[in-house]
Amino acid sequence: MIHLEKVCKTFGDLKVLDELDLHVPRGSAFVIMGPSGAGKSVILKHIIGLLRPDSGVIRVDNMSVPDLKGEPLRDLRRDMGYLFQHSALINWLNVFDNIALPLRETMDLPEDEILDRVHHVLGLVSLSQADHKFPSEISGGMQKRVGLARALVTRPRIILYDEPEAGLDPGMSVDIARMIREIGQELGMTSVTVTHSVDCARTVGDHLALFIGGRIALQGTPTEVLDSGHALVHDFLQGSSKS
Ligand SMILES: Nc1ncnc2c1ncn2[C@@H]1O[C@H](COP(=O)(O)OP(=O)(O)OP(=O)(O)O)[C@@H](O)[C@H]1O
Ligand SMILES: [Mg+2]
Repeated sequence: MIHLEKVCKTFGDLKVLDELDLHVPRGSAFVIMGPSGAGKSVILKHIIGLLRPDSGVIRVDNMSVPDLKGEPLRDLRRDMGYLFQHSALINWLNVFDNIALPLRETMDLPEDEILDRVHHVLGLVSLSQADHKFPSEISGGMQKRVGLARALVTRPRIILYDEPEAGLDPGMSVDIARMIREIGQELGMTSVTVTHSVDCARTVGDHLALFIGGRIALQGTPTEVLDSGHALVHDFLQGSSKS
């Protein structure tokens, strides 16, 4: 479903993706871990067509993402939800209007359908009472859940989560990870989750890829990778516990 082959991306003289191969099957809950600054967000931005590779193949549902423009690119983005690393809510819009935004931008729906859909996803993230609040009036954890609701509202078949647990306390990050797993199963979505949290990776993922040095260094089930005793995993976990 998501297929990257020999993808290269360089910014100035910094090589971020170095012949990256990545394959995410339909229905998978795929997790990517890797050091800070390695290029994990850059991978997600390539999948959704916000960045173009220098070379290589990026296909989603057999469509070549870098070649899409205009209406087909808009269609693809409607099919893909994206939870940004920082919730990226719009401060002057209330919770309802923040969540309705992708519907209004990418779909031509009557207002009563918008109302139904927004209330449905607010229910999924347990925020039904908060629809008239502004981002500054709700906690960081609630903002994350609003971001999650906004990523879900177009009923995407694919959803990309960039560090859904970042900035949350441990209890809340477990809640968000569980919510991601349950919503994914309930709606039968394919997901790619970037995370720094081993707990989040184990909770969310059925497949884990360790991204180091511009490509996937190791992959398998979260247990296979994290409990492998491999030196790369050891070094990565040591490094991330220091940061
Ligand atoms: N649009 C851009 N222009 C120039 N450099 C960029 C751009 N986007 C990312 N980079 C660089 O690419 C590298 C990888 O960035 P990226 O944000 O993907 O890291 P990351 O793995 O997501 O890190 P973190 O875990 O801290 O979020 C960084 O050195 C970053 O500065
Ligand atoms: Mg990032």
